Amino acid sequence: MAEAAKDTGQTQPRKVKYRKAKASWNPAMQAIPVPGIRRMVNMASTMKDVIHLSIGQPDLPTPKHIIDAYVDALNAGQTGYTMDAGLPELLVALRDYYGKRYNRKLTRDNILITSGATEAMYLAITSTAQPGRQFIITDPTFLLYAPLIRMNGGEVKYIPTRPENDHQLDPDEVIRAMGSRTYAIILNSPNNPTGAVYPRSTVETIVEECAYRGIQIYADEVYDHLIFDDDDYASVLKCSVDLDNIMCISSFSKTFSMAGLRVGWVISSQATIKSLRRYHMFTTSVANTPSQFAGVAALTGDQQCVRDMVDIYRERRDKIVELIDQTPHLTGYKPGGAFFAFPTLPPHVDGSDVALRMLKETGVCTVPGDAFGEHTQNALRLSFSTTCEKLEEAFDRIIPWMAKQQF
Ligand SMILES: Cc1ncc(COP(=O)(O)O)c(C=O)c1O
Repeated sequence: MAEAAKDTGQTQPRKVKYRKAKASWNPAMQAIPVPGIRRMVNMASTMKDVIHLSIGQPDLPTPKHIIDAYVDALNAGQTGYTMDAGLPELLVALRDYYGKRYNRKLTRDNILITSGATEAMYLAITSTAQPGRQFIITDPTFLLYAPLIRMNGGEVKYIPTRPENDHQLDPDEVIRAMGSRTYAIILNSPNNPTGAVYPRSTVETIVEECAYRGIQIYADEVYDHLIFDDDDYASVLKCSVDLDNIMCISSFSKTFSMAGLRVGWVISSQATIKSLRRYHMFTTSVANTPSQFAGVAALTGDQQCVRDMVDIYRERRDKIVELIDQTPHLTGYKPGGAFFAFPTLPPHVDGSDVALRMLKETGVCTVPGDAFGEHTQNALRLSFSTTCEKLEEAFDRIIPWMAKQQF
């Protein structure tokens, strides 16, 4: 400004017009959609007396011994960084816990502690997705995977799962979809948004074929304890011979109602963990320290709290299945895990339009199927992470409203 004034001989500085700087985002940002869940929740936040069947996190309280361990860690001054791979006590606890659960020999070097399964998935996908590499995922799918793949130039190949098949994954369809560009498959069982739990035969067939073809498997097993009908949970850790092409990802968020404490992990071969560990140092450095102490208490404490929570979710699952059956225009099935039902409206009905009108006219907030994929636009995701009383109250509103609809 002073220079400009000098040049023109003016005593007052001349006003120079500056262009407003525009944020210049990396074009990869375009791969990140506006989440369908947000759209609904934002609208619900402007309304009164809303019943949320849109919730994607546990509503049950975190068990007290876990909270105590968190507070004790804070009081003991555990507020610094941990080792980059994670708190040594937690690595040992996870090694022992998984070793016992799946009768599998692991070492601490097979494990990396992350800020939730979200960071673990971020590390796995963004360290490997690139142009020319295809990732197979289901449609519908948890909304994190496809944007992360596409942001890094990877290609997404969808395998539809269908309501008439209880959204089970057909392993033959998966194998037929594998080609020369296929780099990885992301498995998510129990599944968000469908609640489908894949049986051992499905997981074993896919794991075997991937090992044969050198295809990576990223298994998102965050709901691995929320299983209602089958004790034999088919983790990839149980179905694979070695870990060379496997990343098993989970967290404390759902099993122990610790979503906000942000601790998850990746289990894989030592070579993979070594590489991811370096990347992790450049993303979040380490997971939250007192939360990792809370995680040790969760794994080494009495597991009755988990069994109690599963019993509660099972009762709610049975309730929502019964209520969906009584609802005109909705066709359901029995989800085997997680806390989601994914019933369908008649074909060609726009689930988004129904979810929005239903929210406005009944005050029940659901998430439309198009938030999770292309082939399930006539579906609604209903979360049963809420009490049976709230579920009944919600359906007391939904059932008469649906009865009036002329689809
Ligand atoms: C399938 C799935 N994977 C991962 C996550 C994220 O879990 P975390 O809280 O461990 O980051 C969620 C959370 O809703 C989920 O549903």
